[in-house]
Amino acid sequence: MTIGLDDVIAAETVLSDVDGLQGRLVMRGRSLDDLAGHADYEAVMALLFDGFFERAPASWQAALGAARREVFEHLSFADPALVAQEPIDAMRALTARIADGDGPATALRLVAAPAVFTAGLVRLRKGLRPIPPDASLGHAADILRMAGLPAEPLQARALDTYLVTVADHGLNASTFASRVVASTRAGLVSSVLAAISALKGPLHGGAPGPVLDMLDAIERADHARAWLEAALDRGDRLMGFGHRVYRVRDPRADALKSALGPLLQDGRADRERAALAQAIEAAALDTLRRRKPGRTLETNVEFYTALLLDALGFQRDTFTCVFAMGRVAGWIAHAREQASTGRLIRPQSRYVGPPVGEAQER
Ligand code: ACO
Repeated sequence: MTIGLDDVIAAETVLSDVDGLQGRLVMRGRSLDDLAGHADYEAVMALLFDGFFERAPASWQAALGAARREVFEHLSFADPALVAQEPIDAMRALTARIADGDGPATALRLVAAPAVFTAGLVRLRKGLRPIPPDASLGHAADILRMAGLPAEPLQARALDTYLVTVADHGLNASTFASRVVASTRAGLVSSVLAAISALKGPLHGGAPGPVLDMLDAIERADHARAWLEAALDRGDRLMGFGHRVYRVRDPRADALKSALGPLLQDGRADRERAALAQAIEAAALDTLRRRKPGRTLETNVEFYTALLLDALGFQRDTFTCVFAMGRVAGWIAHAREQASTGRLIRPQSRYVGPPVGEAQER
């Protein structure tokens, strides 16, 4: 029995393969190197969805723009109490307003939802009016525009690279949650809501905000080692490091580091902060090697997610929502794949509680 299901194969998938020893990620036969920085998010979404819907639209790309416009109307449900919630909770609540279903229209609304709702909620929180989607734009460029952030090709390319990089990643916790719900035939909205809930935790998609908190707290490169040692002494985990599957560097970290490069060269990203981050990364890896000698703890995707999304102007409390904007295509494709097996996911637990007699005596 494996607590945490570490080595358990719970599904067969044609969607993605995570090679934790070689540090390789493949999505539907295409390597991450081949996709990140080369394909746009819509193309990768279409790749992941291919064959999973009976009546697929003629162009997934065009249909996604229309879906952004369609879900925009749900923002009118965003009352002040909802807007005051953490962006991930508010975004999830609005996503729950989408009618459940299993068809391509529901899938497209769900891909549009984290993008449209997060951008709109951030504006509403600032007392500004949400910016309606422009269906003629690419998904990444429109997200930046709706969020009121710089949306030139340089930034749109960087966000596209991010969304593609995180679009799918094997049976991670949120994708597994999506498949479990899909296996009960509950519908795609239910699957995606479960996945968003799993994603928000700090051990999964909630890590990049705390990565920036760590950079802020350390402040100077020469403070790094003492700060990191003290964090480990307290029993804290260093955010942005370690992974359940990778025993080498997470290949997504390098894809995102490359995406950050043009923003730094162009002066759109803070070079001093990037230099500090690099020094902290090196100090953290060194400290983890010494403190956890039996374990290979390397940089994961969240470290460079934090730097990239910060450079694009996203607020740190929306980072997990931006992760959802990318991963949602994977959640949906996995939900469809799971449903197609017709098999309910229902593992067993081993009872370690008191025997009947003992419980009655208490
Ligand atoms: N900092 C300090 N110690 C760590 C870290 C870390 N980031 N990661 C793992 N460890 C330690 C554990 O405490 C444990 O130590 P112990 O045996 O002395 O108790 C040991 O390393 C074992 O680690 P694993 O079994 O590899 O860890 P696990 O698979 O349970 O956890 C996880 C993986 C949750 C990602 C972990 O590395 C972690 O908490 N990282 C920080 C949070 C983070 O960056 N999450 C994002 C992951 S990427 C993603 O979800 C998109």
